[in-house]
Amino acid sequence: MKQALEKIELAAKAELEKISDSAELENLRVKFLGKKGELTAIMKQMAALSAEERPIIGQIANSVRSDIEAAVTKKAAELKAEASKRKLIEERLDVTLPGKAPKLGKLHPMDVVMHEIEDIFIGMGFDVVSGPEVEYDYYNFEALNIPPDHPARDTQDTFFITDNILLRSQTSSVQVHVMEDRKPPIRILSPGRVYRSDAIDATHSPIFHQIECLVVDKGITMANLVDTLNMFLKRLYGEDAKIRLRPHHFPFTEPSAEVDIVCFNCGGKGCSMCKGEGYVELLGAGMVHPKVLANCGIDPEVYSGFAFGLGLERVTMGKYGINDLRLLYENDLRFLEQF
Ligand code: DAH
Repeated sequence: MKQALEKIELAAKAELEKISDSAELENLRVKFLGKKGELTAIMKQMAALSAEERPIIGQIANSVRSDIEAAVTKKAAELKAEASKRKLIEERLDVTLPGKAPKLGKLHPMDVVMHEIEDIFIGMGFDVVSGPEVEYDYYNFEALNIPPDHPARDTQDTFFITDNILLRSQTSSVQVHVMEDRKPPIRILSPGRVYRSDAIDATHSPIFHQIECLVVDKGITMANLVDTLNMFLKRLYGEDAKIRLRPHHFPFTEPSAEVDIVCFNCGGKGCSMCKGEGYVELLGAGMVHPKVLANCGIDPEVYSGFAFGLGLERVTMGKYGINDLRLLYENDLRFLEQF
């Protein structure tokens, strides 16, 4: 029996050597130490031993059991250490590898120019306000002195949602909202999207952007308009920027003017860009029509005002020498990354 016990111990230790994971280890423990294991089977035979032999064999059996238990525990600890070592190796990070640089976005050239213009006007004490793009006929036309059959509607044909509701064709509609909501003195700038049923080409788009400016107070004259325009355009284009006013007609201003700027390309000599004129058209402006003031509840006998509206696309194209409007909308990164 002593030999059988020693054989068990040797066998257990030999098998332990070959074990490589915890499931195998558990099988081995059950095989040798479990209730139906080899050691238990031998212990059951001890009843047959003599009184002298029993304590001696019992002692050997106990020491074999505790030897195997100790060996199993030791193996379990080794397996655990190996597993965590393996995990550390598998999950190792090479902190010296070069990182992936995050892709930084940038502002669209029209946003850059818009923010620049807003900053110039905020610096002169203006508020930046926004108005609805889906608009009542009244705000887009009627209140601006463009009644239903007025020919000016033809040049601003837009998209109608109902007979009475449309996509605004000009930011001048914001003038009406502001004058309804505020008492003079009023100094606002309002950038935003406008719509016209035009086919898209190098200079036209059914969606484009305007910036509207409105000043209403006591004693506002054309001189204030010219001075504000000069200040604005010199800040935007540099001290050399020179403008001229040409008489024009807008239903919502009287008198009205178109404002041209000395050609960016030839500096006034005349070239293909300005069609030999030396100037390029920049914006529409004028003194707010007394009827428009009255429509908005402002007494034209007490107050006067000026307004102008400019196309953001045209200003951006002039500033950066862009010759096709479509480039601004196509989201081609090769174009946009140049700004
Ligand atoms: N709303 C005009 C347009 O889209 C531009 C304009 C002209 C705006 C004169 C004004 C103005 O405020 O006074 O053609």
